[in-house]
Amino acid sequence: MDFSCGAFVCPGRRLGFDDLYEEEEVLGTGACAIVKKCIHRESAREYAVKIISKEGMQRPEVEILSEEKHIIKKLDHRNIVKFYGSFSDAKDYRLVFELLNGGDLYQYVIKRQRTSHCESNVMRYMRDIFTGLQYCHTKNIIHRDVKPPNLSLTIEDKREVVKLVDFGLAVETKGKARRKLGDLGTRKYKAPEMVQGLKYGTPIDLWACGCVLYNLLSGTHPSGASFPSLYWDRVSESSKDLIKQLLNEDQDSRITAAEALNHSFFNPMREESQYLGDAIMHLTEFTQKEMWKTAGGVGIVTNSVLAPIMASVMPSPPGGSQHAGASMDDTVKESC
Ligand SMILES: Nc1ncnc2c1ncn2[C@@H]1O[C@H](COP(=O)(O)OP(=O)(O)O)[C@@H](O)[C@H]1O
Ligand SMILES: [Mg+2]
Repeated sequence: MDFSCGAFVCPGRRLGFDDLYEEEEVLGTGACAIVKKCIHRESAREYAVKIISKEGMQRPEVEILSEEKHIIKKLDHRNIVKFYGSFSDAKDYRLVFELLNGGDLYQYVIKRQRTSHCESNVMRYMRDIFTGLQYCHTKNIIHRDVKPPNLSLTIEDKREVVKLVDFGLAVETKGKARRKLGDLGTRKYKAPEMVQGLKYGTPIDLWACGCVLYNLLSGTHPSGASFPSLYWDRVSESSKDLIKQLLNEDQDSRITAAEALNHSFFNPMREESQYLGDAIMHLTEFTQKEMWKTAGGVGIVTNSVLAPIMASVMPSPPGGSQHAGASMDDTVKESC
């Protein structure tokens, strides 16, 4: 597409977001941002704009938030939300993306697959997620926040496509070497190596995929790779085996995205998949219990939310933390 938002320069004035787009309804909120639908005035095409309020932020924090665009603009893949450009004014920072019209994956499954939820559907969704991650990982980019609200669905050519969104915590590494990159992300989906403060790398995203696959097939959250028969009787052995390999505590032998795509879980000839009605019921309860939908509300970027990000990328001043006032408790560590 031939436009780069924010780059339209009129003699003497750079066009702002409002000159080019009309903002419409809210599509979603995260801990850092509010995402709205918007219409490009000239073409009448629909997009999504992620708005990050700068209120209460210092300059380095704004710069860290703007990192998202530096990573996302390196990515061009069917299973990754497409980025079109950015705008910045005194109040807000705005990133324009393709509009994903199916909502979050879990919400979509609950609403649209209520009477037809089965392993073969989950297989299609997981194939998209692994394919997107494989692409990121070959570019040495770790998403670091794979979780339900960051997996959005859209319909392309009458087919459901899952796309990774929210590269706000993503980080670029150098090759395969593990590094100390900080404790970020969402507690429930964090790999053990991150929780333990060890060096880590791309395998952390695969751990999160293990949690997602476990959620989708049972409607419950894993506590290790165990499969209580109450929830797992109707699920195939190949699914359980893939989950075991994703929830492998040893990051060095954990299955990679490329290997996962070759796992027998994706074999179209495998056993017929059964209707997973109970999983839908449990998934509904599970999503209702979680805070994702309201996490932080609107325009709630604060220093404390940013503290762990800052800590992971800024050198600490001698003898103290960069943000002495910011708490580092679990709530703060919950991701943007
Ligand atoms: N391109 C998009 N199209 C439609 N909805 C989106 C898009 N990007 C994000 N969303 C929705 O907005 C929510 C918040 O966006 P996200 O980038 O995750 O913000 P945060 O960094 O605050 O978590 C997402 O969970 C998703 O529901
Ligand atoms: Mg998010």
